[in-house]
Amino acid sequence: MIVCVCRRVSDRDIQHAAHRGCGSFEDLQMELGVATCCGRCADCARSVLLAAQSRPAQGAGASAMAPALALA
Ligand code: FES
Repeated sequence: MIVCVCRRVSDRDIQHAAHRGCGSFEDLQMELGVATCCGRCADCARSVLLAAQSRPAQGAGASAMAPALALA
């Protein structure tokens, strides 16, 4: 899903930035340029960033799941 139309930033772009260590909305703006033009996407971008920071990166739980799957 495109979050920032002006800068063509998707929710995945924001999630990847968060998982690379982007720790604040200001960092996100510096890294991706999100919400630096019209600003209409700021609330949505903040929400996507907060959600990404509150859960592990995709695939991070895969190794933890492997033993359980091996026993199944
Ligand atoms: S939609 Fe993101 S700055 Fe305009």
